[in-house]
Amino acid sequence: MSDVRIREGVPQDYVNDALRLSFDAFAKKFRLGFRDADDLIRLFGDSVDTTSCLSATVDGRFAGILTFQSGSREFYRLSLVALFSRFTPVRALRMLGNLLLLSEGVRPDEFIVETLAVDPQFRGLGVGTALLHEAEAQAQALDKRIMSLGVITENEGAIRLYQRLGYTTTRTWDGYLVRFVSGSAAVHRMEKPLAVGEPPATPA
Ligand SMILES: CC(C)(COP(=O)(O)OP(=O)(O)OC[C@H]1O[C@@H](n2cnc3c(N)ncnc32)[C@H](O)[C@@H]1OP(=O)(O)O)[C@@H](O)C(=O)NCCC(=O)NCCS
Repeated sequence: MSDVRIREGVPQDYVNDALRLSFDAFAKKFRLGFRDADDLIRLFGDSVDTTSCLSATVDGRFAGILTFQSGSREFYRLSLVALFSRFTPVRALRMLGNLLLLSEGVRPDEFIVETLAVDPQFRGLGVGTALLHEAEAQAQALDKRIMSLGVITENEGAIRLYQRLGYTTTRTWDGYLVRFVSGSAAVHRMEKPLAVGEPPATPA
């Protein structure tokens, strides 16, 4: 039986590991202009807010990350100085444009799961589920009413996981622009309402 533990934030030593996992979960799928995980580390490695996330260990080894946006808190803090000093102007503009296209404002009552990523060697052990449950508990403690996240239509495994935890699709984007930016036929927004004052459902 594996010992799965969730903690608030991510230790600085694991930030690069977290960004590597995030690249596979998110940046690789979207045509943001990041060529590899090192690009993500170059841009965000020294600017992420290490408190706006949850991290997981399995038997003491770093296993996964959930980053979030809530109120003014956000894991990925974009520095324009870093963007334009570390990348060519053309790539910097492309990244900026695509990041802006994808970014949505966060509503006061909403807790956005930006990235959920589990190391391939630790998948299927309940780490993703545990991270989402803890995120819901945090959101409730902050009096948030809605959990929300985005997922591409081809990511059937993740969609199944979210549905099992009570998330439903509330909006779908498709068409040329979505295909151009995401490389996917459609992007879904999934949401789960949170009952104020009640603890989140316990895992089965
Ligand atoms: C989706 C993901 C976070 C699930 O994490 P996990 O720790 O394996 O999840 P759990 O063990 O709690 O639950 C397993 C469920 O995850 C889903 N899943 C998706 N990919 C999986 C994989 N490679 N291995 C195991 N489960 C996977 C399945 O729906 C599975 O449920 P099932 O038993 O009904 O098939 C993880 O597979 C992952 O990091 N995938 C790549 C990144 C990604 O797609 N993130 C989501 C972006 S929206």
